[in-house]
Amino acid sequence: MQDGLQRPSWRQTAGRFRIQRVLVTGTAGFVGHHLSLRLLQEGREVLGIDNFDPYYDPALKRARLERLIHERGFRFHELDLSEGTAFFELMERFRPDIVVHLAARAGVRNPSGDLWAYARPNLDGFVSVLDACRRVRPQLIAYASSSSVYGVGSPVPYHEDDRSDRPASFYAATKRANELMAQAFSGLEDIPCVGMRFFTLYGPWGRPDMAYYSFTRDILAGRPIALHEAEAMRRDFTYIDDAVEAVVRLLDRGIAARASFAETRHSLYNIGNARPIGLLDFVNTLERLLEREAPKVHRPRQPGEVVLTYADTTRLREAIGFVPSTDIADGLASFVTWFRHYHAV
Ligand SMILES: NC(=O)c1ccc[n+]([C@@H]2O[C@H](COP(=O)([O-])OP(=O)(O)OC[C@H]3O[C@@H](n4cnc5c(N)ncnc54)[C@H](O)[C@@H]3O)[C@@H](O)[C@H]2O)c1
Repeated sequence: MQDGLQRPSWRQTAGRFRIQRVLVTGTAGFVGHHLSLRLLQEGREVLGIDNFDPYYDPALKRARLERLIHERGFRFHELDLSEGTAFFELMERFRPDIVVHLAARAGVRNPSGDLWAYARPNLDGFVSVLDACRRVRPQLIAYASSSSVYGVGSPVPYHEDDRSDRPASFYAATKRANELMAQAFSGLEDIPCVGMRFFTLYGPWGRPDMAYYSFTRDILAGRPIALHEAEAMRRDFTYIDDAVEAVVRLLDRGIAARASFAETRHSLYNIGNARPIGLLDFVNTLERLLEREAPKVHRPRQPGEVVLTYADTTRLREAIGFVPSTDIADGLASFVTWFRHYHAV
């Protein structure tokens, strides 16, 4: 994969120069692979890295990577971000214009209580990325944060300026720590950082640990599904293509703003659908699409979960002229079609 890393990074597109080189961490992940595909289809060069963490089935990650590997302009390096020197050397050779940092241990539930499972990728990994950026100096860093930073008791809809110092999970605490690190780093190093607070992303090639995926698997297998605090639970489900559209626009805007010196160094954006769905409505929609009903087991709320997530997307709309809006029934229909095909059920 070393071959060709020194190619020019600028290409003239429709009469203007366009940023071409994007390094994407977590490129075999759900979001990383969708975003990489989109960037490649737009003619950009992507260097992806991933360590195929076994948090969920690495075969799915390898299958996602298969979709990218034959795309023109794509290169991949299997690497753990904790190998800071190796990551820096890769960055130095590739010299990205933009770094999109998505690699992390995702998910708020942590039944084993293992804190290092989050701290190593989410804290040490973040420092590896910042430290390499300090030396290689990309024009922009965009990184994944989460709706979970709003934590317990935040008023809805969540606005980016709301309190975010009462995380309900250790995962959320690591994501908030990333935001504070980015705030300090961007000021010290004069490299703009964009934090993207994603709200429950779903869609084809999604994550098996998330409820929409495991419910689909269980409903099709005729197994009961466990509903935790079903009457109260509401989530702001955001379709993956909408999230990718928002990310791409934020990248373009970040680069344009940097060129005109107009951008603040660190900015945070909610990327959500701004339309929370009750858990019971969500399950009904899924059952309708699957043409099956599942037996339900009602359980109390799981540790780390909040009852409601709801994005205020005013800032996002003002920045990029776009907000996610895909209807849950349409988004879930695409997911179900993919699921049946991928799992041959
Ligand atoms: N999917 C969502 O609903 C959602 C919501 C909020 C925030 N996020 C955040 O968005 C980002 C992407 O999420 P996703 O859903 O694609 O998760 P994902 O688990 O599918 O993708 C993350 C990828 O990072 C890789 N990775 C983990 N640790 C690594 C390391 N140390 N070195 C190299 N690679 C490593 C994993 O193997 C995986 O492929 C994450 O930072 C996540 O916390 C996602």
